[in-house]
Amino acid sequence: MERIRHREVWFTAPPTPAVLDLRTADDVFLVGAGFSGVGHTRADLSRVSRAAARLPVDHLLALRERYGGPSVGPGVEVVASFVGRRNYSRYDLEDAAGAALPGYVSRRHGPPPPGGSSWRLSVVGDAAVLALRVAGRPLHRRPYRERSVPGSLHPPLAAALVRLAGVTPGMSVVDPCCGAGTLLLESPGRRLGVDACPVALGSARANGVPAVTLADAGRLPVASGSVDRVLVNPPWDRQACSRASLATDPARLWRSVRRVLRPDGAVAAVIPEPDLPGLRVTTTLPIRIAGRPAHLVLGRLPGRR
Ligand SMILES: C[S@@+](CC[C@H](N)C(=O)[O-])C[C@H]1O[C@@H](n2cnc3c(N)ncnc32)[C@H](O)[C@@H]1O
Repeated sequence: MERIRHREVWFTAPPTPAVLDLRTADDVFLVGAGFSGVGHTRADLSRVSRAAARLPVDHLLALRERYGGPSVGPGVEVVASFVGRRNYSRYDLEDAAGAALPGYVSRRHGPPPPGGSSWRLSVVGDAAVLALRVAGRPLHRRPYRERSVPGSLHPPLAAALVRLAGVTPGMSVVDPCCGAGTLLLESPGRRLGVDACPVALGSARANGVPAVTLADAGRLPVASGSVDRVLVNPPWDRQACSRASLATDPARLWRSVRRVLRPDGAVAAVIPEPDLPGLRVTTTLPIRIAGRPAHLVLGRLPGRR
């Protein structure tokens, strides 16, 4: 890793398609230009146009293919974001960069045709970066996601939880509140999804979760001491509601999880508070979901290292 910038991690990597397998990243870009002097006035937009005109476009497009990006079709889009107050909009920024890029289609008039090149322009303070998307579409948009349910996880976040859990292909993995199945679809292993809602379970099945069961997470139909990893994003009673036994006794989930875990097993959870009742928390990572604080938490049975 070379640098962390607002919502960006900068790194160097050899030109192979391995970058497209970075499952915890929202997206991956090739840095084309970094420049400063993009202040808050409209007069500063000319700096963006000048920087875009100097981009080594052909070199970056060729490099993109070496990183596994598809060959590019007609149409160029620019997606801009900025931090801080400005006297211009993000569309003004996009158009300023796009003016120097042949084939540019402004997003003011709706989404550009798919298959073209997509540039990201981010401005933090007065420092700007122009970068080219490697993949044909954002990496976080997973091909498996046919359906979602209220409270479905952002796939890169689910992938991060799977990494935290240390799941390997031979392990048995259960998600007792699987919803549309995002955690299991990001995970290797012998996977079982459980949910008390038939619609959610239908979504998990449609998305390709290999085995699903309609059941109450408080009464898991799973043998005691048999599961290597429990991955869970329980209902927080905001977007997704507690059902069956969890509606009256939410702690029942954790009793159920303790029962099914192997002695050396572990549970990884996305929860508002870093607390796993009756389990020993070994790792806590603070995150934010939709602006609210939350945690990725790893726990084990008490008394196990
Ligand atoms: C936050 S959502 C899970 C979303 C899922 N991680 C995804 O990405 O789609 C919580 C899920 O818990 C389920 N649920 C609520 N009470 C339950 C219970 N007693 N047993 C099993 N599932 C339950 C809800 O139906 C909902 O699908």
